Amino acid sequence: MKNVANIKLAAQGRKNIAWARSQMGALLTVEDEFKKKQPLKGYVVGMALHVTKETAVLVDVLEAGGAEVVITGCNPLSTQDDVAVALHERGTKVWAWKGETHQEYYANLEAVVAELKKAVKQGKKALTIDDGCDLVTLIHQKHTDFIPSIVGGTEETTTGVQRLRAMEADDALKYPVVAVNDNKTKHLFDNYYGTGQSTIGGLLRATNLLFAGKTMVVIGYGSCGRGVSLRAKGMSAEVVVCEVDNLRALQARMDGFRVMPILEAAKVGDVFVTVTGNKHVIDGVHMKVMKDGTILANSGHFDAEINIDALKKLARKVTQVRPSLQEFKITDGSKEKNLYLAGEGRLVNLAAAEGHPSTVMSLSFCGQALALQYIVEHKHELQPGVVVLPGKVDDDIAARQLTAMGIKKDSLTKEQARYLTSWQAGT
Ligand SMILES: NC(=O)c1ccc[n+]([C@@H]2O[C@H](COP(=O)([O-])OP(=O)(O)OC[C@H]3O[C@@H](n4cnc5c(N)ncnc54)[C@H](O)[C@@H]3O)[C@@H](O)[C@H]2O)c1
Repeated sequence: MKNVANIKLAAQGRKNIAWARSQMGALLTVEDEFKKKQPLKGYVVGMALHVTKETAVLVDVLEAGGAEVVITGCNPLSTQDDVAVALHERGTKVWAWKGETHQEYYANLEAVVAELKKAVKQGKKALTIDDGCDLVTLIHQKHTDFIPSIVGGTEETTTGVQRLRAMEADDALKYPVVAVNDNKTKHLFDNYYGTGQSTIGGLLRATNLLFAGKTMVVIGYGSCGRGVSLRAKGMSAEVVVCEVDNLRALQARMDGFRVMPILEAAKVGDVFVTVTGNKHVIDGVHMKVMKDGTILANSGHFDAEINIDALKKLARKVTQVRPSLQEFKITDGSKEKNLYLAGEGRLVNLAAAEGHPSTVMSLSFCGQALALQYIVEHKHELQPGVVVLPGKVDDDIAARQLTAMGIKKDSLTKEQARYLTSWQAGT
């Protein structure tokens, strides 16, 4: 079975991993501790994460902590082939390449489960790391016999946590999974600054578009949508936000953006970015009223946000005009128009670019590594279900990042700490 792409890419992969390490100081402090404490000795970690240079650094950290790691991607278009090859060459078990078919994607997840089972037979205990919940779902649908051997798992993203909570509500989740996305040091940084910047990066690489003077429609004003809107504004685009949640729609307006229903926005937007975690938020009915030349992109986890089947149905011709850009030629009555789809509707920051900057992934992956340590240390208390880490883990990660950035800050005096926890003193 194929494991990775062209082995000749390994040297570039090693250089890219080294570059990522140079930006991930906070995570390297966890690596130093793991080397000494070996918290993951005797464990095998099965990962389904975007196989990027930053993920390779997380693999370094887990291996330094004593774990055996087996890894596949969590999206058919997000693997950085040079990184996957470098991991494979140095002996980490990896199944991932950019451009996997649907079948290959699931075969690779199965390969990870098979390796986990093999390692458990040899006496190891299993942990999982997921991004989007496909690995956990596969295990719960097809490998239920193996579940008792799994001590716990972690989940990286909003969509994955939503799926886990749905499993929990159905009483279907059979082992504890830490919602790393719920760490403040994850969604307030990775989703906000990371997705904000890298979505613009993906759009730029796919189109080389001038943002100034464009109307950019951001659909979903959550952690990611807020970041994307802010960055687009910084590039001098006019930003329009579409939301279904009252509070977030209000927040978007008060942050200075126009808010309108998607059907109205469809008529005025030049560029559309979906970041909802939902399905078909851009549908055929919207595509029909869009302007000639409109660009569509998604930065939410799955390629379900833009109804690509509807787009294909409307089009009489589809052309790959650039590496990450398809043109859909649509005849509308007597008029012709072109709509453009970036990154095949898969998360544009990873499909068309390199994903989040390493520094922001350092925060997220401190969360992943410390979550695994937490599961191992608390394995006798944890129940099946979604687990949220105590706030002190977030505080610890933020402190590591401040130190890595060379930032000093103030601390409360004893008197101030007392004042903040007392009620007697008033005006
Ligand atoms: N591209 C990346 O690298 C990356 C990084 C982090 C998260 N994500 C993914 O991005 C997506 C969004 O994550 P988030 O943390 O911002 O989630 P969130 O829950 O904070 O925000 C999602 C927002 O979308 C809104 N929404 C839902 N359906 C809608 C609809 N039909 N129309 C308009 N708005 C709608 C919700 O009301 C909510 O405010 C998820 O799929 C997540 O997994 C991607």
